[in-house]
Amino acid sequence: MKTSGGSDAAKRRAGESAAEAATDGDVVGLGTGSTAAHAIRRLGDRVDAGLDVRGVPTSFASRELAAEEGIPRLDLSEAVGPDGPGIDIAIDGADQVATGGEAGDALVSGGELIKGGGAAHAREKLVDAAADRFLVVVDPSKESPRLDRSLPIEVLPAGRTAVAAAVREAGGEPTLRRADRKDGPVVTDNGNLVLDCAFGEITDPAALSTTLSATPGVVEHGLFVGLADEVHVGTASGVRVDE
Ligand code: 5RP
Repeated sequence: MKTSGGSDAAKRRAGESAAEAATDGDVVGLGTGSTAAHAIRRLGDRVDAGLDVRGVPTSFASRELAAEEGIPRLDLSEAVGPDGPGIDIAIDGADQVATGGEAGDALVSGGELIKGGGAAHAREKLVDAAADRFLVVVDPSKESPRLDRSLPIEVLPAGRTAVAAAVREAGGEPTLRRADRKDGPVVTDNGNLVLDCAFGEITDPAALSTTLSATPGVVEHGLFVGLADEVHVGTASGVRVDE
């Protein structure tokens, strides 16, 4: 599973804090990345101790980890729908969280996030948006007054150049994601490609989200606007929960 920067101890505190929110009978969305992995491991420990939950994985990697941890699983298509139980909580990481002020300030109303560092944001958005409560788990390195890091966009392979042109039109500079400079492109769990798009500071995330979602060839972009309910920030000494 992909690991990005930031202290692993802080990530663990954040992930474990959010995992404590699960209660008996819950269906839990299982995010992707090194911080969400801590939550999945903690949930696994709680299942061993008798907690009755089922997990909805957001990626191949989170499915594998949940299986290793002995967490019963169901697919999103089983969880959500007329006969499904729904998703009670989702726990997922983020690449950047806007604080609207200084790092450490409260969550921007409804949350503004960039996700997709692990190229799993299409399924993550489906699961996180379907959940009654979406808990974001991060270390302090992810907090920023404004969103300004590169934005991942999953694209249909045939639409790559058309989407790249639309991104430039919207003020961004796209780069095809490769595992290594010499390697072929990263291919998502859905068989698509990823453009990492530098927009500089994103002054209106909701407007950019709408523009990108309306662009043919875009499968999903990594702007998560108005979806988060809580952000669990693991710090050097504990956890801060922003709502
Ligand atoms: C995967 C994601 C991850 O949640 C995000 O990249 C954060 O990962 P990490 O917890 O390893 O820093 O969006 O698509």
